[in-house]
Amino acid sequence: MEGKEFILILAPKGRDAEVIKTVLQRGNVECGTCENLISLTARLDHDLGAVVVTEECLYGPSVASLHAWGAKQPAWSDLPFIILTVKRTGIRSEKAAAVLDQLGNVILLERPINAETLMSAVRVALRGRRRQYQARSLLMEREETASKLQSLNSGLEQSVLERTRELEAARDTLAFALDSAELGSWDIDLTTNAARHSLHFDRIFGRNSITDTVGRSIILDHVIAQDRAAVEAAFNQAIDTGRLDLDCRIRAAEAVRWIAIKGRVEYADKRPYRMAGIVMDTTSRRETEEALHQSQKMEAIGQLTGGVAHDFNNLLTVIVGSLDMLIRRPDRAERVARLAEAAMTAARRGERLTQQLLAFSRRQLLHPQTVNPNRLLLEFKALASRAAGEAIELEFELDPAIHPIRVDPAQFESAVLNLIVNARDAMPNGGRIRITTQALRQSTSDVVGQAVSPGRYVMVSVADDGVGMSSDTLRRVFEPFFTTKDVGKGSGLGLAQVYGFARSAGGHVKIESELGNGTEVRLYFPASTEPLSAEVPLSSRKVPLRQAADGETILLVEDDEQVLAMAVESLEELRYRVMVARNAREALQHLKGLERIDILFSDVVMPGGMNGAQLAVEARRLRPELKVLLTSGYVAGQEADHGIGVDLPVLNKPYRREELARQLQVILGDETRKSSL
Ligand SMILES: Nc1ncnc2c1ncn2[C@@H]1O[C@H](COP(=O)(O)OP(=O)(O)OP(=O)(O)O)[C@@H](O)[C@H]1O
Ligand SMILES: [Mg+2]
Repeated sequence: MEGKEFILILAPKGRDAEVIKTVLQRGNVECGTCENLISLTARLDHDLGAVVVTEECLYGPSVASLHAWGAKQPAWSDLPFIILTVKRTGIRSEKAAAVLDQLGNVILLERPINAETLMSAVRVALRGRRRQYQARSLLMEREETASKLQSLNSGLEQSVLERTRELEAARDTLAFALDSAELGSWDIDLTTNAARHSLHFDRIFGRNSITDTVGRSIILDHVIAQDRAAVEAAFNQAIDTGRLDLDCRIRAAEAVRWIAIKGRVEYADKRPYRMAGIVMDTTSRRETEEALHQSQKMEAIGQLTGGVAHDFNNLLTVIVGSLDMLIRRPDRAERVARLAEAAMTAARRGERLTQQLLAFSRRQLLHPQTVNPNRLLLEFKALASRAAGEAIELEFELDPAIHPIRVDPAQFESAVLNLIVNARDAMPNGGRIRITTQALRQSTSDVVGQAVSPGRYVMVSVADDGVGMSSDTLRRVFEPFFTTKDVGKGSGLGLAQVYGFARSAGGHVKIESELGNGTEVRLYFPASTEPLSAEVPLSSRKVPLRQAADGETILLVEDDEQVLAMAVESLEELRYRVMVARNAREALQHLKGLERIDILFSDVVMPGGMNGAQLAVEARRLRPELKVLLTSGYVAGQEADHGIGVDLPVLNKPYRREELARQLQVILGDETRKSSL
């Protein structure tokens, strides 16, 4: 192919072509000649520099294909034609002018021409053509860039498409997961307050999605009035903390349901702009929990009732049997005494049983004193080793720096005794029981879940190397009547008493036990800051029976007819004059009267709005010198430490005649008078 500055020459007449060629070659321009227009047209090329042609060659039919080529040139190309014309006198015919016109880029040189004119025309034509080539390469560059851009674009489109597909798949999976978990989702734009939510959301709230809602009202509108303030507060707080987590009740399709809402706040430049989360209906979970709780409660009550009935039945069998035999043949004194003794023993066991039950329910009237636990334990050593038996060795490790504690000494003794007996039973082949005391500090983490405060405590522990307990047993040991022992061996009230006692003393109990590896029960009591109480040995309370002095009168207040009759009989046996009232109102009437009354002896729990303690206060107001003795089976809902609220002597029910006589004597403060049994 010819070069870019190649010139094609068509000048078929004579030696014209040769001459032109020589001139051009001399001017360093590459060129070639053609025979006729047809061969010229065939050699035309976009890389051609220009064409030199004599005018007369153009007027013939073959010019049409030249024109056709010219018309099909690309936008940048306009091939220059240098036309050597013939000298003429007139103007060109219209037809000839049109032929030239159609060629476009035409330079006319009139013959004869000299070499210089031809060269200069060729150079002009070539310069023009060069510019066209420049335009072409610019165009080509632009096209290339455009096509590169296009391929880039289509790649981008492809990856956007892929990402979108991935996102859609993730969203579908999420929606499926939320739906399967029966979770609704919601989304609030905090800047525009627009709210979006899932279909399941509508299902939970029992609404149709056409309902228009904005912002938080999408949820708040359904919350029941009682919970609304709390929910609103939770939303406000979430804006600061970034997290929303709440449970509330909503009204959904005419029913109240529980829901749980969790959400997260998103921030841009620390400004909250979006809050989104999930919601779930927790109604049935709550109902199940409630039902489970209820059934556990019923089971516990059933166990308790059954246990009480069983134990009392045994005792009643003895009592009823003995009394029955007494009534049928009340003759032989020795037999009467034996049967009465048996009935009394059974009744006493019943009494112990109720004491233990009351200790567990913390309804027992306690006589707390501030004591040194080490002293109590040492005093009680002899009894403890008797209870433990010969095969068991008792080891005491008492912390000399112990704090005083405030407990009912008798209850303390019976708690430790219960623990020693349990330890003994766990070691049927004998062994060693370690009783330890220790002053210590309980931190917040030590007392977690125990409903007591951290601080200074005293720990009293009883440990054995016995059979230990399974975790199932361990979980239930404090339940009243829970026992693994054979019928008649244990009633399952020991640890119930220990538990109730420790709690009422403001302390708590911890048990560590492993099957086959022994057990340690630790009682924790808060240290007391009060001074030690005067030492009253537990066993030295025996005082001879005292009878009333002349005319000493007791106002007896009791609402239970049978107890009343029994008390009247006992008091009259002791030679007191007895005045009877069945409630506080009647008692106050007597007190307002003028008759002699030395002692007010009243039940604590009474119908009619005023209890024994309140009556005592009122009575003392009317008669400041009056002596008071209260009696009670239990004190409902009273703080153990304060007993009945005022500092008054109390006789625990059931009491024997001698206990009543002794208490009356102590109260009258008269020990010099003659007494007899
Ligand atoms: N030191 C211990 N070692 C192993 N098991 C024990 C120990 N203390 C208690 N238990 C288990 O806990 C159960 C309940 O003890 P708890 O003292 O309340 O009742 P009990 O000893 O069975 O009867 P009660 O004390 O009324 O005579 C026991 O039956 C026993 O299974
Ligand atoms: Mg026991």
